[in-house]
Amino acid sequence: MLESYIDILNRGDIVAFPTETVYGLGASAWNPEAIHKIYKTKGRPSDNPLIVHVSDVTMVHDFASTIPEEAYDLMENFWPGPLTLIFKKKPEVLDIITAGLNTVAIRMPNHPIALSLIREAGPLVAPSANTSGKPSPTKAVHVLEDFGSDFPVVDGGPCDVGIESTVLDISTRPFEIYRPGFISKMDIQNVSGNGIVAYHTPQKTDKPKSPGMKYTHYSPDATVKWLEDFAEIDDSSNLILVHSPERQKSKGKNVIDYNSDFELMTKELYDRFRQADKEDYKSIIIEPFSKKECSNKLVMAMLNRIEKAIGK
Ligand code: TXA
Ligand code: MG
Repeated sequence: MLESYIDILNRGDIVAFPTETVYGLGASAWNPEAIHKIYKTKGRPSDNPLIVHVSDVTMVHDFASTIPEEAYDLMENFWPGPLTLIFKKKPEVLDIITAGLNTVAIRMPNHPIALSLIREAGPLVAPSANTSGKPSPTKAVHVLEDFGSDFPVVDGGPCDVGIESTVLDISTRPFEIYRPGFISKMDIQNVSGNGIVAYHTPQKTDKPKSPGMKYTHYSPDATVKWLEDFAEIDDSSNLILVHSPERQKSKGKNVIDYNSDFELMTKELYDRFRQADKEDYKSIIIEPFSKKECSNKLVMAMLNRIEKAIGK
């Protein structure tokens, strides 16, 4: 079933495929023309580097020039899985992957289809398979919405995690989290030994350390905002996402109640953003997280994606 997609990759073309986080748009990591097609298809700015996807730790040696000791523990604990590691790069890594940086981002996805494609076609660079600026795709149909109904996408059903991987720079000290995700700061700290982990706070310099972070991603056309006034729940032009069990049960087909299930809310977030646009909702209104809820390991990542969609 995968043969035809492997053929497409081997002849220098691009294919969308499922991972456990979101669907990726893949090209061979050694083929600059194929990688160029990724930027063109997505309308992605050329200063935004790509993640190399591997199926085996030995592949990391082809891209990373230095592998810090803690990296082995991180790879052993979290790969395959939603953690991207940034290493110092080898000179032979294509500039079109790293956008001219001296580092390279690598991850091993936890999805049988992604792993089979990489085993057969070699390491693949893959950004999320959405038009730049749209929410990342978590279902094959989202890819077709953005790139057209004929676009080659391997359908693996809905993605389990639903938001992009945690991006961790281990080429500097302290280690820095550029993008929070399912693997939390605490998860990383627990296995990184002496490697201290910090959230990256962008400085106002010309060259951001992780270029992708400066773009407003994940934005549906509908306005995204926090729920302040419960009267808005009665306005059927709003799609409302709520989660706290203390809140009075609200009814209405426009109210989605996650009842403290943050995993499900994370998994469905981008699908809800896309649903709002397809069904012409004016706004997506999300119940704020209480202090107690903020101790949940997914809240940091969810806050990051929601605030980006709000445009902060
Ligand atoms: O879960 C994921 O990571 C998905 C799936 C498909 O694997 N991929 C994904 O790729 O989200 P993309 O291109 O949408 O996001 C990659 C992020 C961008 O913010 C980019 O700037 C950052 O990783 N990045 C890549 N290489 C980097 C590097 N060398 N230094 C700093 N940031 C880097
Ligand atoms: Mg993306």
